[in-house]
Amino acid sequence: MSKQYDIAVIPGDGTGPEVINEGIKVLKAIGEKHGISFKFVNYPYGAEHYLKTGEILPDSAILEFKDFDAIYLGAVGDPRVKPGILERGLLLKLRFDLDLYVNLRPAILYEGVWTPLKDKGPEHINFTVIRENTEGLYAGAGGFLYKNTKNEVAIQEMICTRHGTERIVRFAFEYTRKYGREKKLTMVGKTNVLTYAHDLWARVFDEISKEYPDVKTDYAHVDATCMWMVKNPEWFDIIVTDNMFGDIITDLAAIIQGGLGVAAGGNINPNGVSMFEPMGGSAPKYTGKNVINPIAAIEAGRLMMRFLGEEEASIDIQKAVQKTVKMMKSMNAGQMGFSTTEVGDLVVKHILQ
Ligand code: IPM
Ligand code: MN
Repeated sequence: MSKQYDIAVIPGDGTGPEVINEGIKVLKAIGEKHGISFKFVNYPYGAEHYLKTGEILPDSAILEFKDFDAIYLGAVGDPRVKPGILERGLLLKLRFDLDLYVNLRPAILYEGVWTPLKDKGPEHINFTVIRENTEGLYAGAGGFLYKNTKNEVAIQEMICTRHGTERIVRFAFEYTRKYGREKKLTMVGKTNVLTYAHDLWARVFDEISKEYPDVKTDYAHVDATCMWMVKNPEWFDIIVTDNMFGDIITDLAAIIQGGLGVAAGGNINPNGVSMFEPMGGSAPKYTGKNVINPIAAIEAGRLMMRFLGEEEASIDIQKAVQKTVKMMKSMNAGQMGFSTTEVGDLVVKHILQ
């Protein structure tokens, strides 16, 4: 009997719907090959919907999402919406309300993809960042005193709980054991300055490491990590880090793997519904031109398959992506040598052949 997965789709704004279309095309093809069927249910949320209705993401949608197997998001954003509104009201709301406590960002340079790092190739750039996704500086704790006066005080607190730290660190050890190239897990932090928050992190990391004698451990300060990621990215296998530092180093990771055209991420609740997305934004200037790179969205679909337990399907998507990117001239919009839909068709062709 074939398996069916129910997927909530938020195509979003700008080029979001275009890349999601290609992602869905690829998922349908992989389903055909592996005896998996999908039910895709579209949701209208994003900047356009907000500007039209004033609604960002209602609690009723969060409740509905809990009944799905996964959420597939294109991109949200529009220059007409003030920064912060959709971020907090939609993206972060999804993370907090669905307890998506893992942000997983693989940085794999595929053969034939350009990297800005000189003398580095696919054998050097193959690591994954596991970022804590519900605490730290993103918790939204803090406030103003005497706002808009000369005596104004702004406080933004960094919240690290033992529970939150333990579960992300444990996830990272499990992930390293299962998927690590060298079974090596590096904690990235700033223990020399964040002497409370990252002291807790370091103690938890140390404690949990004892349960995983087969996993090698390492520690790097976040500033040094930025240097090493450029100079010796091959030193990294799996990284675990806090929310803010994870946000910063995953953009560095994305550019060395070929940029936003290929970088994908998962916002994961290992015990619930997870959300998968391409990292590139809504790219309004490319909207409707059939020139945006859908590889990142297709890669997000690949991650979705992995976390639904369809590892073979996930590997098959990766193989097809690897063949496709080798044929593409560039990962940049408008310079791929193919249109958006042609890139999707090529991946499908490589899956089915
Ligand atoms: C990311 C993004 C988000 C973040 C923004 C859009 C809220 O940069 O997923 O990395 O800061 O986490
Ligand atoms: Mn980011």
